[in-house]
Amino acid sequence: MAPHAAVLLSLLLLTTCAADTHLHFFLHDVVSGSNPTAVQVIKGPASSSNALPDVAFGDTTVIDDALTETSSPTSAPVGRAQGFYMMSSQSGMVLMMCVNLLLTTGDYNGSTLAVIGRDDVMTTTRELSVVGGTGKFRMATGYVVWKTNSSSGADATIELDVYTTGLNGTATIDANAPVSPIDGSGATGKSSSGAAALRGAVPYGWANAWVAAVLVALAGCVW
Ligand SMILES: *[C@@H]1O[C@H](CO)[C@@H](O)[C@H](O)[C@H]1NC(C)=O
Ligand SMILES: *[C@@H]1O[C@H](CO)[C@@H](O)[C@H](O)[C@H]1NC(C)=O
Ligand SMILES: *[C@@H]1O[C@H](CO)[C@@H](O)[C@H](O)[C@H]1NC(C)=O
Repeated sequence: MAPHAAVLLSLLLLTTCAADTHLHFFLHDVVSGSNPTAVQVIKGPASSSNALPDVAFGDTTVIDDALTETSSPTSAPVGRAQGFYMMSSQSGMVLMMCVNLLLTTGDYNGSTLAVIGRDDVMTTTRELSVVGGTGKFRMATGYVVWKTNSSSGADATIELDVYTTGLNGTATIDANAPVSPIDGSGATGKSSSGAAALRGAVPYGWANAWVAAVLVALAGCVW
């Protein structure tokens, strides 16, 4: 089979059996009280932001926020949001959000989603990016609809709708895949170098990779 035909077939199969997931839960960002889950670790140098008197450009908060099933903080826990957010606009309450969503229930227990994005706090609904994941979310991509459900002072409850597409944890990379040279040893073109040997093997290697991709995709569909 011509390589490009194999590519198209793999893409088609992957598209057909890629898992689309929609998750819904709430994040509780607790800054106040004796048990905060969000702690400011950097204070911006100037109160250059106009939105709130106490907020400055550069303010950075590290979080380990609870994720729960409903908007009540005492509802069933589903995971944690671990990461940080930083005030990254000089003209308003806009956060750079960088967070791993760790899920701790059911089949998703231990799987994570890497979320990064622009959180324009004063807007009703924001959209952040899912840039990857692990476990069930390995190689996932997607987006999160991020909506303030309630707030009290600096504390906030956020409603999250996570939409991802991925391979539902079925993606693997062969443990026997050859090690690629990363030391530049191939640059001299010496015939004895590992890189030269690898160059010779490339066409065969790629053909194998496409066949493997098709088989993996087929296997995924059968399951
Ligand atoms: C993906 O995995 C989850 C968790 O194991 C499962 O509930 C769901 O049905 C799977 N989705 C697809 C489309 O295979
Ligand atoms: C999730 O996984 C952890 C670690 O493997 C385990 O201790 C815990 O009981 C699991 N929780 C659920 C709800 O399955
Ligand atoms: C907060 O979430 C609840 C669901 O738990 C919903 O009924 C309510 O409308 C939400 N409020 C806002 C302001 O989005």
